[in-house]
Amino acid sequence: AVERTLVIIKPDAVKKNAVGDIIRIFQENDLKLLAIKMVHLTKEQAKKFYIVHKDRPFYDELTDFMSSGPCVPMVLEGENAIARVREIIGATDPAKAAEGTIRKKYGTDVGRNAVHASDSPESAAYEIPFFFNQLEIHEQ
Ligand code: CMP
Repeated sequence: AVERTLVIIKPDAVKKNAVGDIIRIFQENDLKLLAIKMVHLTKEQAKKFYIVHKDRPFYDELTDFMSSGPCVPMVLEGENAIARVREIIGATDPAKAAEGTIRKKYGTDVGRNAVHASDSPESAAYEIPFFFNQLEIHEQ
């Protein structure tokens, strides 16, 4: 099925000037870019975005990092997009990410891992409207 997924280029990858390369990789994989912006999240906004992780030991570190600088959320669309994007980005821990994946190329460690992507249709349904309203999502 055609799906939409939310990807965030995280503050570490923005600082590395990797935004253009990361967008190119998705587009070369036949994922349509329907929405994109640059935002500097507050700590409170980062906590709300990652609310599913609120009881994890890394919640405070994760939300500190995600509010440490600008990030680039985007909506991508394509056949089986949720699983396919997760393959393209690679394992959460860049040290375990496969050769050729975005996290292998740009990630530093499990916290600073360059990108986030929705892990299920339910996550995408929460994450896409967190950043984008209907007028900001452009059907193609
Ligand atoms: P992400 O796809 O953004 O979803 C949740 C994030 O939590 C994950 O990527 C990691 O960056 C982060 N995370 C997972 N485990 C740890 C950890 N042990 N320490 C710090 N951050 C973590």
